[in-house]
This record gives sequence, structure tokens and C-alpha cells, in this order.
Amino acid sequence: MSDPRPIGLLDSGVGGLSVLREVRRLLPFERLCYVADQAHLPYGTRSASELQQLVERIVRFLIAQDCKAIVLACNAANTAALHYLRAQFPDLPIIGMEPAVKPAAERTRTGSIGVLTTQTTAQGALYANVLTRFADGVRVITQICPQLVWLVEQGAPEDEAARRSVAECLAPLQAANVDHIVLGCTHFPFLIPHMQAILGESISLVDPAPAVARQVRRVLEAREALSEAASQGEAHFFTSGAPEQFSRVASRLLGTPIQALPLPV
Ligand code: DGL
Repeated sequence: MSDPRPIGLLDSGVGGLSVLREVRRLLPFERLCYVADQAHLPYGTRSASELQQLVERIVRFLIAQDCKAIVLACNAANTAALHYLRAQFPDLPIIGMEPAVKPAAERTRTGSIGVLTTQTTAQGALYANVLTRFADGVRVITQICPQLVWLVEQGAPEDEAARRSVAECLAPLQAANVDHIVLGCTHFPFLIPHMQAILGESISLVDPAPAVARQVRRVLEAREALSEAASQGEAHFFTSGAPEQFSRVASRLLGTPIQALPLPV
């Protein structure tokens, strides 16, 4: 059995493309449909009830696009809306994500790890739960850095202002002698080269996207819903913001030409 319908992915902006990139790598034959809710960016400062409404609207759009599964490629959306959405759409596979504290806590040698994230995620019950389950006996320094979301929305430029902004976010973590930094916002993997240039190789950055992609494959396999297409699946991109801006930044971040369409209201 196979299912040729697309996989839907959503985020507040271009951040979820870090997840799309890994899904594309692991499952090249799947069709993809990506929505960026840039009219409502940032998600990382919004309340749970606001995010539930915003994200439900996008999920309905993705269902109307005939998506067979949805990936919530946004930590803040997961914090606020994962359980809510699963209750609203019980027959739809919804793949979630959480800050990857578990692998960092298992591997730390200094006993200290850092988490870079946004306010909504840091203050949510999901994160508290992750810390209780996986970070026992480990010191976790949580750093909220909304400025990095904006940097990635501008295409993760490699200028001095960007370097300074990234360095400011990392400084407290370096001072705390962390040896792993968890990227708790899907925008941040696009700043890995910037971060590694500042940190050197002694601190490992933990990007959850490859694990999310493997989970997408597991879920579809279990439902016998993988695509059996013989050629690369096409990807469609929608934004509630400005399509030209999204297309320019997404093309830069993914290194391939992207043409986004306006999200129909
Ligand atoms: N990319 C999103 C996340 O993973 C949020 C960025 C935002 O604040 O909009 O949390």
C-alpha cells in the first residue's frame, strides 16, 4: 500500500524549513506542502489560545490541500497546540516535536547544557515536562532569544551585526561551561555555521530536525502511507505574509529556487 498525497508542514515563518530540509533528505519522493504564517510571526511570544486558533486554521488549509499527515515544524506551536490539534483531528497523523534535551543530557560531560528557545516554549508545560523527564541531575541554562528568529527571517546574513547578535545569545551559555546547546526553535539550525564559528568545535549543537524526519517516516510506514513515486516529490510553499520576501529568503536558506504563493484567506 502507498499514499501519494502530500505531507503538510507549518511554522510561523521560514524556521520550519529546517525540518522540511530533513524530511526532503530522508523521504525524497514525498510531496510536501509548507505553510509559513508570517502575518502572525513571531509565534514565540503568543499565548496558547491564540496559537491554537492560528494553527488550527492552517491545519484546516493543509487538510483542504489533501495532506495525509501534518508536521508541526514549530516548537512554540507544539507547546501550545499539539494536544489540542490531536483532539480536534483524531484521524489525522500529527507529528510533533520538543526541545531535544534528552540526547544533550545523555551525552554531556560537563553536566551543563544550554537550550536556545523562545518565550512561549520556555514557559510551556511541554518544556517543563521534558526537563523533569530527561534532565535530572543536569544543569540546564535556558536562553530566550527572539532576535535570532528575526535574523533567520532576514536570511541569516553573515555580517558583523548578525555575528554580534548570535554571540550575545551564546555568551551566557559559554560562561556556564555547557558542552551541548539544544536548538529549541526551528529557526535556529540556519544559524549553525554562525554559532559554530563563535563556539568552535568543543560545544555540540543539537538540531532535532533529523529525528523529526525519522519520526515522520515511522508514522507513515506504520500506516503504509509512504509514497511509491519514482521521482522527487514536488514541494509547494504558502505564506500569509509577503510571498516575494518568503521566496527570496527560503531560496537562500535552502540553496534552491523557491516560489511561494499567498495563503488564501
Ligand atoms: N520557529 C518557531 C519555533 O520553533 C517559532 C519562531 C517564532 O517565534 O515565531 O518555536
